[in-house]
Amino acid sequence: MSLFGDLRIIYNMAIRPIRGKSHAERMDNFYSGQAADYDDFRRRLLRGREELWQELLKEPCENTVWMDMGGGTGSNLLFFGNALDRISKVYVVDLAGSLLEVAGQRISSSGWKNVETAEADATTFIPKEGTVDAITFSYSLTMIPDWFAAIDHAYQLLKPGGRIGVVDFYVSRKFPADGHVKHSWMKRAFWTQWFAFDNVFPSPDHVPYLHKKFEPVFFEERLTRIPWFPNPFFKMPYYLFIGRKPL
Ligand SMILES: C[S@@+](CC[C@H](N)C(=O)[O-])C[C@H]1O[C@@H](n2cnc3c(N)ncnc32)[C@H](O)[C@@H]1O
Repeated sequence: MSLFGDLRIIYNMAIRPIRGKSHAERMDNFYSGQAADYDDFRRRLLRGREELWQELLKEPCENTVWMDMGGGTGSNLLFFGNALDRISKVYVVDLAGSLLEVAGQRISSSGWKNVETAEADATTFIPKEGTVDAITFSYSLTMIPDWFAAIDHAYQLLKPGGRIGVVDFYVSRKFPADGHVKHSWMKRAFWTQWFAFDNVFPSPDHVPYLHKKFEPVFFEERLTRIPWFPNPFFKMPYYLFIGRKPL
């Protein structure tokens, strides 16, 4: 952890306004000042990513095609471990060219021949294989304005039996489904406003929509501390979801 790196990130997240006319411009503008420090800070902020990968990799991945939507710097590639050699293709799809540059350097320095970056929109990108076996969204759905289009598109791209894995911030509905966690009014109102400054939109609807479209395989609701947040006891909700497209 570097103090100056954290200060640069906090400046970009909490003070510097995000500029840009289109969503793609805003994404690149937001991340261009923090690409170099991104991984270190997000390791402490974006929890549950490694566990999501561990759960997904419990099923065989030989000769599969995997898309990491909003994959940023490609840091999730490290969670594949040796399994990466057995996968035929991984796409890291993102709109922010500055983060994909870091991903590109990671891919070439690791010598991965089966990994490709695509500067593209997760709601429309189609790989040359046409359909895929697994799609992941780690902390990207909350930054995609048309998140429902991203989920619908993932559903179209997945083969029958293919899996979607999502880890992200969220808030519960006022009246969540039976068995799901209910958050206080304070949590729902505060975190929604707090994250909106960075164009991150924790939603009460991602979890119900994912459960509606896919057969749930794994679902956990958790809380995490936000680094440098003044009150360490007021924690942010996040969830892990794995679902299967019905056969
Ligand atoms: C919080 S970052 C998470 C990055 C990475 N998945 C991780 O876990 O470190 C959200 C990412 O979603 C990307 N993103 C936002 N909207 C997108 C879209 N419509 N299509 C593709 N990527 C998008 C952003 O550029 C950013 O890299």
